Amino acid sequence: MNMISVEDVTFAMEGSDTNIIDGVSFKINKGEFVSIVGPSGCGKSTILRIIAGLIPPSSGRVRVMGRGIEGPSKKLSFVFQDFALLPWLTNIENVKIGLNLSELSEDEKDKKASELLDRFGLSGFETYYPNVLSGGMKQRVGIARAVASDPQILLMDEPFSSLDELTAETLRSDIVYMLENKNISVNSVIMVTHNVEEAVQLSDKIIVLSNKPTKVKKILSIKTGRPRDKRAASFMETMDLVYAELAK
Ligand SMILES: Nc1ncnc2c1ncn2[C@@H]1O[C@H](COP(=O)(O)OP(=O)(O)O)[C@@H](O)[C@H]1O
Ligand SMILES: [Mg+2]
Repeated sequence: MNMISVEDVTFAMEGSDTNIIDGVSFKINKGEFVSIVGPSGCGKSTILRIIAGLIPPSSGRVRVMGRGIEGPSKKLSFVFQDFALLPWLTNIENVKIGLNLSELSEDEKDKKASELLDRFGLSGFETYYPNVLSGGMKQRVGIARAVASDPQILLMDEPFSSLDELTAETLRSDIVYMLENKNISVNSVIMVTHNVEEAVQLSDKIIVLSNKPTKVKKILSIKTGRPRDKRAASFMETMDLVYAELAK
């Protein structure tokens, strides 16, 4: 089943007639983990924001589960590089932001947020503020908030880039586990990353973008099951392919 279809999307800054994004198309199917890689400034974050319905494209369109988008949708949630937690709210209150549009009672929201914190290894930290947490723990709160609304699609913008490598590796496994876990609504992920190894480790599909004016250079499919052995010859070959595309 098609989850997201990006159809000939262009984007120019307001008042400019030069396209930053110059006709980008791709599709994402149910169950897929898709990474977007490309040069810094080519418009990766902008594409994610367009898919999220936060900004409109200049032309072209995005369909989410077959329907055009008219603004933020409950079907998608965002995970940010800098976590984007509100420092004046406790961790559980931050997770409950993900339930703002939900029809649950306050008690049910508390229960759900607390279960999510527990699931992401943060039980006991409900009433603490984010500033006492490590980066990895903050991002777990960010992910718990994102999945609280039971989205089917998770959009992640460099979600592990500001974490140390060991912490990032643990969170990557958590995300893979989440995709395979039937109790969690998320079934498809789009991740922007500049980390080619991370993209090859996690993705079913890697979309390589060119420099501005940005187009899709190549879409690589990876069929190997996860977890993947980073030392396997096929893993390194795929990494080389992505680097070669980026360098072209
Ligand atoms: N606030 C802004 N003001 C002016 N130009 C911007 C702004 N935000 C983004 N851009 C332009 O859009 C391009 C794409 O930005 P972005 O989507 O953040 O790229 P990426 O995530 O790939 O690094 C940038 O190269 C820049 O030219
Ligand atoms: Mg970016």
